[in-house]
Amino acid sequence: MKAINVGLCGVGTVGGGTATVLKRNGNEIARRAGRPIVITMAANRDLDRARELVGDDVLLTDNAMDVVNNPDIDIVVELIGGTTVAKDLVLAAIANGKHVVTANKKLIAEYGNEIFALAQEKGVMVAFEAAVAGGIPVIKALREGLTANQIEWVAGIINGTSNFILTEMRDKGSAFADVLAEAQRLGYAEADPTFDIEGHDAAHKLTIMSAIAFGIPVQFDKAYLEGISKLDAADIKYAAELGYRIKLLGMTRRRPNGIELRVSPTLIPAGRLIANVDGVMNAVLVKGDAVGATMYYGPGAGAEPTASSVIADLVDITRLHTADPEHRVPHLAFQPSQIANLPILPIDEVETCYYLRLTAKDLPGVLADVTGILAEGQISVDAMLQKPAAAAGGTAEIIIVTHIAIEKNINIAIAKIENLASTHGKVVKLRLEHLNG
Ligand code: HSE
Repeated sequence: MKAINVGLCGVGTVGGGTATVLKRNGNEIARRAGRPIVITMAANRDLDRARELVGDDVLLTDNAMDVVNNPDIDIVVELIGGTTVAKDLVLAAIANGKHVVTANKKLIAEYGNEIFALAQEKGVMVAFEAAVAGGIPVIKALREGLTANQIEWVAGIINGTSNFILTEMRDKGSAFADVLAEAQRLGYAEADPTFDIEGHDAAHKLTIMSAIAFGIPVQFDKAYLEGISKLDAADIKYAAELGYRIKLLGMTRRRPNGIELRVSPTLIPAGRLIANVDGVMNAVLVKGDAVGATMYYGPGAGAEPTASSVIADLVDITRLHTADPEHRVPHLAFQPSQIANLPILPIDEVETCYYLRLTAKDLPGVLADVTGILAEGQISVDAMLQKPAAAAGGTAEIIIVTHIAIEKNINIAIAKIENLASTHGKVVKLRLEHLNG
């Protein structure tokens, strides 16, 4: 049967991995797809590098629009990244009636609504498994495998760089800045690590999963982001004493009045499977009303793991490209006419448990003042720990874990606690999720 012709735009780590795996497993993939899938054209700024990675029998160009405008190309694979050239070429490919596979989380999280609308109009598929959690087929699971369920929440450790740093901070008791410097030296963290450590990358992935889980538009601009750069090693240690681990957690939860969509350093009970996902590995935990909790674990980056997802999308498109567009799997799992208008809740409206750490004078009545303020805000205490502060002078660190509370009430209580004559400095606030199945 006639081969499917693939045009690769961007030949770097993932593009090279895609070419390698398609060649190595070509026969097996063709047995599954029903026809061969072949990269016939590739675009890259560095043509010599591209030649090395894709081999001699691929037509090369340094202009991605040549791929998009080539009438022989059936599927365009966008691996350029960013939202400038990549967005133009994806929209142009769709306008030309080509199917698209992309690993670009930023593009889908920020411009997915526009891209899917054009794809629907043109009757083509845009597939993006590789955009979320690298090699883990979590888009497929959410969109198809869990389709019977009302999804209640999705929680993910979806940034390998941050997870590596947090794992090292916990294992070695080191400060954030020292571990980051070591991670950069070893090549595990980018020279400019902002996107990874401040939660942008995780929020892009979470935004996409949230849209698919709840049938809402992608709304990255409404996601709440808090990274790990201000996390103190002391809180990792105190969390461990209380039976928790701190992870950069993406959390999206359906509530009666809207959707929570947030990324922040979060305490998780140490015994949960997801709390033990360490190093650069990723995991996504999904709670459905019928199935309960299911977890998806694996490599969130890397040449061949990400290529595994890119090629899975190529196979899906190969199988479905002759199907009536209405009979394909919708981009966001729900039929486009059924996408809901549920609002993303502001962070003040989030309801979860909290970890608070404050420094106070070690005098009679201080604890009573603090717990009195919490009681006024309807905040119930679950656990408490008191430690002599590192600096001498009659001060103590008080660590409080609360039951579920509304974030705005916690913030009001924190402001009052910081105003007490008996406390010093700022109160540290971290969210805590029990992630009960
Ligand atoms: N930079 C990401 C991470 C991988 O550290 O997990 C690609 O999204």
